[in-house]
Amino acid sequence: MNKHSHLSPDRVVSALEGVCAGGVLSAEAAGERHLCDWFGRVRRSALAVVRPNSAGEVSAVLKWCGKNKIPVVPQGGNTGLCGGALPPADGRAVVLSLEKIRAIREVNADGRFAVVEAGCILQNLHSAADDAGMFFPLSLGAKGGCQIGGNLSTNAGGVNALRYGVARDLCLGVEAVLPNGDIMRGLSALRKNNTGYDLRHLLIGAEGTLGVITAASLKLFPRARARVAAFAALEDAASAIRLLGDFRRGMGDATESFELMPKLVFEMLARHLPQVRLPFSPPPPIGALVEVAARAEDDAERLRGRMEDVLSRAIEAGFVSDAVIAESESQRAAFWEARESVPLAKSREGEWMRTDAAVPPHRLAAFIAAVTSRLENAHPGQYVTAYGHAGDGNVHISARPDGAAPSANPELAEKAAAAIAETTREFDGTFSAEHGVGEKLAGRLAAEKNPAALAAMRHIKRALDPDNIMNPGKVISV
Ligand code: FAD
Ligand code: LAC
Ligand code: ZN
Repeated sequence: MNKHSHLSPDRVVSALEGVCAGGVLSAEAAGERHLCDWFGRVRRSALAVVRPNSAGEVSAVLKWCGKNKIPVVPQGGNTGLCGGALPPADGRAVVLSLEKIRAIREVNADGRFAVVEAGCILQNLHSAADDAGMFFPLSLGAKGGCQIGGNLSTNAGGVNALRYGVARDLCLGVEAVLPNGDIMRGLSALRKNNTGYDLRHLLIGAEGTLGVITAASLKLFPRARARVAAFAALEDAASAIRLLGDFRRGMGDATESFELMPKLVFEMLARHLPQVRLPFSPPPPIGALVEVAARAEDDAERLRGRMEDVLSRAIEAGFVSDAVIAESESQRAAFWEARESVPLAKSREGEWMRTDAAVPPHRLAAFIAAVTSRLENAHPGQYVTAYGHAGDGNVHISARPDGAAPSANPELAEKAAAAIAETTREFDGTFSAEHGVGEKLAGRLAAEKNPAALAAMRHIKRALDPDNIMNPGKVISV
């Protein structure tokens, strides 16, 4: 543990104003947006919130904080779900928000890439790419708030990973400020570059523990000629996985998303967000949202026809009970609104024990069945949902003992968490598929990561950040 300085918040604010004029807020002025988690349940304080305008200013902030042994917590849109962007509970860190470093520097359709600053909101990149006839595939429910730097730092997954991979797969290069203040300029449009260690991949997924990403070059794809989405009604996860297999066989790479939403999730949407249009009433045991896109050969009509073929064959075979294909762009958007509103609807229901497990995709249906029956046997009446990115083997399993907050019955919540953890291990899975580790899962990483990998991670952290100023207590302790 590093010995932190005891400068007062006022001293820190005025010293940082010296390196980042007009960009520093006190904790009081910064408020919930910077100091509270997305659910509004965890509140923290900080010495200051600093919002630099450039990589040069980020460098000056890191140098000053390093000299004064003050921890720095990089922050993007603060939509992360593992507490990574929140300052520690002692209130003695500086939050470094990227919100002012947010330009889209270049959208290059010929080169199929964009150069974007870290604070750019994901949805703004979607729009800029679309304006140029291009497509940036990373997409998630928080797209209106999360930032590219946060997406890379958490190696976000989202709803299109099935076809395009996760954030790491979409990044050609990064510009980052290392803990000592050095600016590593790695923006590049190269598709091939084998010049030594690929440091971009150290920064991606590091959750701000190895430096601050200030910009990135990202892959773009030509915009699809048409997109069609459908909701299928199913009895169980095994039928859903069978349907996914049929889509991939029947439509190949055109299958871009395959998301599962169980009945309880539809019920919560109806209860808490009545303005969200739902595809089925009453909801089926499981709904699968499938999206297909036409790249070269198909137009919208042919694409829709091919999708209808796959769905009608599944209905004839008896493992899909019903299906609704979006008739218009607005209905397609409504399908996605239903899917993307799930975290909000769940949060309105109350507090949940939340997880982000993934197993090898071919074992997902068996995993969901095993974990659900284990949870229900352990405590009949427990609310359980397993929704998410079925095509990636990644489901968010949440539980609410007796429909109440886990904090009301911590023993039961712990039992539920242990049951999910044990089943995940039995299925050779991971306890963090796409949300990262942050502070929430740092203990779990220390306990479960392969010891050789953990030791190498510690060596890297110590080498790059010997004073442990970058987001200490998150991901890995040194
Ligand atoms: P923050 O929350 O601000 O930060 C996350 C971590 O990255 C922190 O450790 C922070 O210190 C670090 N960090 C942020 N910016 C930088 C930077 N520039 N340099 C270095 N470190 C940095 N995640 C998914 O993967 N898939 C989903 O489908 C998904 N859906 C979501 C839906 C909702 C409604 C919500 C609220 C969240 C969802 N998330 C999802 C989680 C979250 O949106 C992602 O983790 C996202 O990538 C975080 O981006 P952010 O800009 O908000 O990062
Ligand atoms: C989702 C987030 C929580 O898939 O990852 O909705
Ligand atoms: Zn998710």
